[in-house]
Amino acid sequence: MNRNQDVVLKPLITEFDLKVRVGNLVREIADDFNGDKLIVIGLLKGSFMFLADMVRLFYVHNIPLLIDFIVASSYGAGTESSGEVNMTRDINTDIRSKWVLLVDDILDTGRTLNLVSRQLLKRKPAVLKTCVLLDKPDRRVIPFQADYVGFTIPDKFVVGYGLDYDSHYRELPYLSVVSFKNRNSES
Ligand code: XMP
Repeated sequence: MNRNQDVVLKPLITEFDLKVRVGNLVREIADDFNGDKLIVIGLLKGSFMFLADMVRLFYVHNIPLLIDFIVASSYGAGTESSGEVNMTRDINTDIRSKWVLLVDDILDTGRTLNLVSRQLLKRKPAVLKTCVLLDKPDRRVIPFQADYVGFTIPDKFVVGYGLDYDSHYRELPYLSVVSFKNRNSES
């Protein structure tokens, strides 16, 4: 983090609104689901809180689940994507002929979901659906549309509810926009 900048957080989506929207998203997905069990794949790290809330609601809807994780990253330190997606952990669940839901925190340039969903499709799932909490369509570099979107947001860097800035703020139960205030370097 640049020591000459103070981070300013401006609340964007409240804890209450997140809870309501996640509940509605899970109901939508449960209504569409028509398999014997759903394999939910979370993209770490950013999706961990969203995914934890979703899977507990799938339980309420009586949908049997298998949960697995992929680790992929395209961001270094800061708010700018490196442009290169690295997949550093793969699932060890067999998804052939299964219903699969790939969950990410945010759809930004589209590079991550495009790469990961193409990898998963090679394994011939019966159905592959993608779900993101947030969509920033103005930032898209690769055309990609998620099947389920929690909120469409403007081109701002956001933190909280699993999303970080330089590994900070993931624990916030709400979403905030990050901005920076220049601090006088002499003070
Ligand atoms: P792409 O560009 O591949 O990016 O669609 C998806 C990943 O980029 C990260 N990302 C963000 N992380 N606040 C964050 O904390 C943001 O505003 C933001 N925008 C993109 C995130 O890890 C996501 O999975």
